[in-house]
Amino acid sequence: MLADLAPKAPDPLLKIIKMFREDPRNDKIDLGVGVYKDATGNTPVMKAVKDAEALLLASQKTKTYVGQQGDVDFLRLVGQLVFGEMAREFTSIQAVGGTGALRLGCDLLRESGAKRIVLPQPCWPNHPSIVRAARLEPVDAPFFNIAEQRIDMDALIGAFDSVQRGDSVILQACCHNPLGADFSMTQWIALAEALNARGIVPFLDLAYQGFGDGIDEDVAGLRALVERVPEAVIAVSEAKSFGIYRERVGALFVKTSEQSRAATMSNLAAIARANYSMPPDHGAAIVREVLSNEALRQSWRDELDAIRSHIKRTRAALAAERVNSLPMHLIAAQKGMFSTLPLTEAQVVTLRETHGIYMTDAARINVAGLREADIPRFVEALRAIA
Ligand SMILES: Cc1ncc(COP(=O)(O)O)c(C=O)c1O
Repeated sequence: MLADLAPKAPDPLLKIIKMFREDPRNDKIDLGVGVYKDATGNTPVMKAVKDAEALLLASQKTKTYVGQQGDVDFLRLVGQLVFGEMAREFTSIQAVGGTGALRLGCDLLRESGAKRIVLPQPCWPNHPSIVRAARLEPVDAPFFNIAEQRIDMDALIGAFDSVQRGDSVILQACCHNPLGADFSMTQWIALAEALNARGIVPFLDLAYQGFGDGIDEDVAGLRALVERVPEAVIAVSEAKSFGIYRERVGALFVKTSEQSRAATMSNLAAIARANYSMPPDHGAAIVREVLSNEALRQSWRDELDAIRSHIKRTRAALAAERVNSLPMHLIAAQKGMFSTLPLTEAQVVTLRETHGIYMTDAARINVAGLREADIPRFVEALRAIA
């Protein structure tokens, strides 16, 4: 039986990470990996997180299971961070990272009768895998013109006609991975109208709150959409916003009619129970501690502000450069860590082999991976190939 297993292709990003590690050049540049790096190239633990961990170590009295729903104070605090005043209207459950929340949400949609999930392309490469694993059909929709670095709303909304009432669409709430292209407020409102007209349930993926324009600013579009639709599913990851990637902190929020809340909660509990049973404690406890302690919360906000400023500085420095055919100025206007450059795979290979500059095969760059001192060399390499 097990001897019959066919091997699966490894994640293409792992190939890039391995090639980077094995490249002996001292001046190689890593724009591939999707984690935040500070000006010195490190991914530090935030001070607020360290302080919260010290408090938890001193105060924790038991290691018994947290409840089926997870840490309810964590859920309340994250709910307020994401939805503000609206937070009370949602059913919620803690999840194993944003990925776990996406999977819970897909399973819930399937239980409710959904068959398909629209994925605006290019999407986060894990979205189709999660959708398929939940036995839903991913439906690719045209969304972004990479050459012009522009969202094509007509094409996206047109693709909604290829699914049916009760199906869903995954929309990234801010700091799109891999595009850096976010919807404007006008576009969010147009989306709400288009979804309501067709009975499609929006599934929002929020993984970078605070990395774009600010903690509240980054969820303004999400809130505008969610308050206009009768039902919505929202997967939240706190991996990036708190720099706690390996702690696997996430949550799923669901907006339904009041009568459907109990059934929604019982379905979520059943899905979680048959999967990992109870959620992990530590990462959610860190977030709870930081958000409920005024001093830690301020320290976290300050550090998140510094992360955002660093990303914005790097984007502005890139946008000030002229590189033949590349629309560098548009990169400054984009949000969060990622942008996808209009390069061919052959150009990406030349950057890697000739210049020691690593990005994904689809030319996604992690702007936060670019140290200030490396910008001139990166730009020179782009001029040589584009
Ligand atoms: C768009 C998007 N959604 C969700 C996630 C999931 O994050 P995690 O499972 O690490 O919390 C990521 C992580 O890279 C992401 O980029």
